[in-house]
Amino acid sequence: VTGFSAEWLAMREPIDAAARDRAIARRLSELLPPGVRRRCFDLGCGTGSNVRYLAPLLGAPQRWVLVDSDEQHLRRARELAGGSAMGEDHGLPEGDEAAGINGMRVVRGAPPIDGMPAMHATSIDTRCIDLAGDLGQLELEEGALVSAAALLDLVSAAWLTRLLDRCRACDAIVLFALTYDGRIALEPGDPADAAVRDLVNRHQRTDKGFGPALGPAAASFARARLEDLQYRTQSAPSDWRLEPADALVQECLLRDWARAAVEIAPAAQELCERWLRKRLAHLERGQSSIRVGHQDLIAWPAGSRDQPGA
Ligand SMILES: C[S@@+](CC[C@H](N)C(=O)[O-])C[C@H]1O[C@@H](n2cnc3c(N)ncnc32)[C@H](O)[C@@H]1O
Repeated sequence: VTGFSAEWLAMREPIDAAARDRAIARRLSELLPPGVRRRCFDLGCGTGSNVRYLAPLLGAPQRWVLVDSDEQHLRRARELAGGSAMGEDHGLPEGDEAAGINGMRVVRGAPPIDGMPAMHATSIDTRCIDLAGDLGQLELEEGALVSAAALLDLVSAAWLTRLLDRCRACDAIVLFALTYDGRIALEPGDPADAAVRDLVNRHQRTDKGFGPALGPAAASFARARLEDLQYRTQSAPSDWRLEPADALVQECLLRDWARAAVEIAPAAQELCERWLRKRLAHLERGQSSIRVGHQDLIAWPAGSRDQPGA
């Protein structure tokens, strides 16, 4: 079920929403002047989880462009936005209250932030693009929001550098949510946990289509690069906290980690299989909890609105 399947994306959506750092969303809202219609990109959007989380929290009117290489995901994103009858690249009509965010599910775990202005008009457009190729296909414009959730750990340093240079060229606001940072804590502990985690993290750095992946280093690389480009940055952990009630998500993760670990180190197969059996037994008994480390990062060009809300 893992990878990028729609089932997996649906399963993780409420967990992502509960994990995301609210201060980062608040900062984004402060950076978007009310009344100014903003073009917002969601790269590697999947079925649209990121826009469902962010759009209701922002005070400014938004024109979202959802980008993914998977046409099925984009179709699902349009369906969830109430635009299933629309053809590719048409999206919902631009507009005011009536276009709004009609039909969009606001996910569990993302209640409105106190004191935030009411939701503004939102339009949704989709683009089927292989982002690993020519980034010139992204029609970024001055002051756009460029966001991505659960994407950054898949990309390479060279690719991310190219993207951030493009962001700087148009003074985009940048928001990367839910970037895996290499931390995995399992309860109850097992002597093999650290070995399996290290293999998973090695696997994270293999090529996911963008060149050698940054994996757990992605969030810190992005932050440092943005600061080199004279961006102000703010980051915070957005860890998943999986309890025994999240048994299905836990099972998918454990199986996926064991598979990845064996793929990167076939000699560790026996260790990983034993580890998986023990972990699934804890889960079966309702005794397993897992914390997965993620980072949220927001960045805005220094000098533009150094004092958000000012
Ligand atoms: C882990 S999923 C995250 C999806 C979504 N952002 C979310 O938070 O639910 C990664 C997404 O990146 C997309 N993706 C992977 N490689 C891509 C590429 N080369 N070009 C465009 N999208 C890509 C996948 O199709 C998938 O939807």
